[in-house]
Amino acid sequence: MRIYENYSLFDHNTFHLDVKTRWFVEYESEDELVKLMKDEYFLSQKVLHIGKGSNLLFLSDFDGVIVHSGIKGIEIVREDANHIWLKVGAAENWDSFVAFCVDKNWGGIENLSHIPGEVGASAYQNIGAYGAEVSDCISEVHTYFIETGEKKTFHNEDCCYSYRYSFFKGPENKGLYYISHVVYKLSKQPEYKIDYGDLRNRLEGKIIQLSTVREAIIALRQEKLPNPVTEGNAGSFFMNPYICMAHYEGLKKHYRDIPCYPVNDEVVKVPAAWLIEQCGLKGKTLGGAAVSEKQPLVIVNRNRATGGEIALLAEEVQQTVKEKFGIEIRPEVNYI
Ligand code: EPU
Repeated sequence: MRIYENYSLFDHNTFHLDVKTRWFVEYESEDELVKLMKDEYFLSQKVLHIGKGSNLLFLSDFDGVIVHSGIKGIEIVREDANHIWLKVGAAENWDSFVAFCVDKNWGGIENLSHIPGEVGASAYQNIGAYGAEVSDCISEVHTYFIETGEKKTFHNEDCCYSYRYSFFKGPENKGLYYISHVVYKLSKQPEYKIDYGDLRNRLEGKIIQLSTVREAIIALRQEKLPNPVTEGNAGSFFMNPYICMAHYEGLKKHYRDIPCYPVNDEVVKVPAAWLIEQCGLKGKTLGGAAVSEKQPLVIVNRNRATGGEIALLAEEVQQTVKEKFGIEIRPEVNYI
């Protein structure tokens, strides 16, 4: 177990905010995690369990313990003619795991290539992109219930997955479980989902296989999203809002090209990027923070922004969109 005091979180949040935590603890095994959960001092502290910090916005220093899993490893737990089940440590890098599966020709998560973060967070956030959600490939989530230290396995249906949501994110469960491993069920006869956005065009003239889909997605993301290495960011800052059909039809009278993704007969999802762009907020800055010109759904740390500046800019975006369209857009990023 590694324990650091007054530790900089600069490399543990993709906004690259220079904030500190009172304690930073990294456990390497389930035994160490169990030991930590029995520690009285630890139990008396404010605790936050993080992955790679790719969805966190620190508003100030953290006066407590930040915990990070160091549990790694990829293990085959079951296999039949069509599928393979892999148990993966929460600390495995997400994109390296995707690359590993693509290389073995196991399909299901290739559309989620190049998403920053770790395996544990994939199950917590229900990451999604290009028409795929990780929940479609999650078989089980192995956790520890912090209050009692007991192990608890959640099957896919217990995780209450929906768009960018899981049981673990729910307000009544947030922070109560540590994810140690995730079991993914992948397909040995991959079916391709390439009808989202520009993906099919990108694949034109290529043999459709997992590796070409992965390459196309990486190229699309590099083209469309700001690079978190040069401009700290947390990917989509906002979720795409759901609105009722009547509201959408009303807006369509004024904005004939308003895009939407149908959810069901009564509800559509509207791209927040479009709403933000229509408000003229692309490139808008506040202090060191900016709404990305490349993809306005993303807020970037352009010039040593503070968490407060990023939050203020986000609030301004939310208010402007609300005033113009009567639509509330909610942050996907967690404010700490
Ligand atoms: N759009 C604009 N202006 C822009 C960019 C986009 O108007 O500058 C509109 C266009 O109408 C476009 C639509 O927004 O068709 C959707 O844009 P895009 O396909 O880029 O995706 P998104 O809906 O904005 C979602 C995810 C992304 C994921 C992409 C691709 C959310 C909150 N975001 O964004 O996820 O990569 O789809 O599948 O659902 C992330 O979560 O960090 C993330 C990047």
